[in-house]
Amino acid sequence: MPCQRNVAERRSRIAFLRAAAAFALGLLLPLLGLAAGPDLGAGSQDAFRQAGPQAAHILDLWRLTLAICSAVFVAVLVAFLYAIWQAPRASESRPPDLSVLQREERGPRRSVLIGIVISTLLLFVLIVASVLTDRALAALSLRDAVHIEVTAHQWWWEARYDDEDPSRVCNVANELHIPVNRPVLLTLKADDVIHSFWVPNLGGKKDLIPGRTATLQLRADRPGTYRGQCAEFCGLQHAWMAMLVVAESGDDYEAWAERQRAPAAEPAEDAQQRGRDVFMSSTCVMCHAISGTSAGATRAPDLTHVGSRRMLAAGALPNTREQLARWIADPQQYKPGTNMPPVQLPQADLENLVAYLSRLQ
Ligand code: CUA
Repeated sequence: MPCQRNVAERRSRIAFLRAAAAFALGLLLPLLGLAAGPDLGAGSQDAFRQAGPQAAHILDLWRLTLAICSAVFVAVLVAFLYAIWQAPRASESRPPDLSVLQREERGPRRSVLIGIVISTLLLFVLIVASVLTDRALAALSLRDAVHIEVTAHQWWWEARYDDEDPSRVCNVANELHIPVNRPVLLTLKADDVIHSFWVPNLGGKKDLIPGRTATLQLRADRPGTYRGQCAEFCGLQHAWMAMLVVAESGDDYEAWAERQRAPAAEPAEDAQQRGRDVFMSSTCVMCHAISGTSAGATRAPDLTHVGSRRMLAAGALPNTREQLARWIADPQQYKPGTNMPPVQLPQADLENLVAYLSRLQ
């Protein structure tokens, strides 16, 4: 029945083409995703644009893994398509020749054996590369390192710049500054649940587990603003637990650190003065600290230099007066579940409060 055989052959070809198209699409989509890159507002968050040696080591390992896995994937795909192509068609009903079958059986056994040997070798190469990468990451010299203690909270980052001289220690939140070409040693802690510190341009992830202390060493070789993101699901606002790392020249870094060490700026205008009074007499003081004033709580970000930061609420909003006013009046609208309660204030008080906080550069 030639007509039926034609139909069966056409069907099996269509199935073959469908399988080939699905595999090609499976290969193409991730690559398209990589090419598009994330657009996340302020700062670059891109593991492919490494700004330091640690990220470069990880990128090298990633490239090697991608190359090996892609080669294996393509080889398996080709073998699979070849097998489909060679499979006997349903319409080809010839009586089986036993001697041919026995000869054919030896072929697949040999190819399976070769596949196992090659897979083992490739896995071994990946293990060796992983170990070498790990050693390279640990080998970063920490001479003259900047020490920063980072504590993760739901959902913001607290950072304390250590110094042998206690008067030079300073607290910041959600925005780190680091000098280029100088190592940074981060001591990482979590206050409530498990978080994960990750600044893709600078290095790998490190989990922060309550009750434990982890360390991570980084170095930025290129000035820039790099966005970091909590990389472990930690509750409702996990996605808005971001930070910025500003890598700048040694002089700029020292100038920034000096400003951060200074107590809060005094109000320069009546509105700012009234804003400070509003702050000190409202619920703000129960959670926030402003150095040089009586506000000393540590449950929420230190606001001593909040006006100097680029973003508010751990990356949720740009730091402008309008956004700050909206954030204070209704934080739940921008970050549902945040521990910050809405602060109900008359409009004039709110404006004064924003004027004061913006003054804290
Ligand atoms: Cu913190 Cu996710």
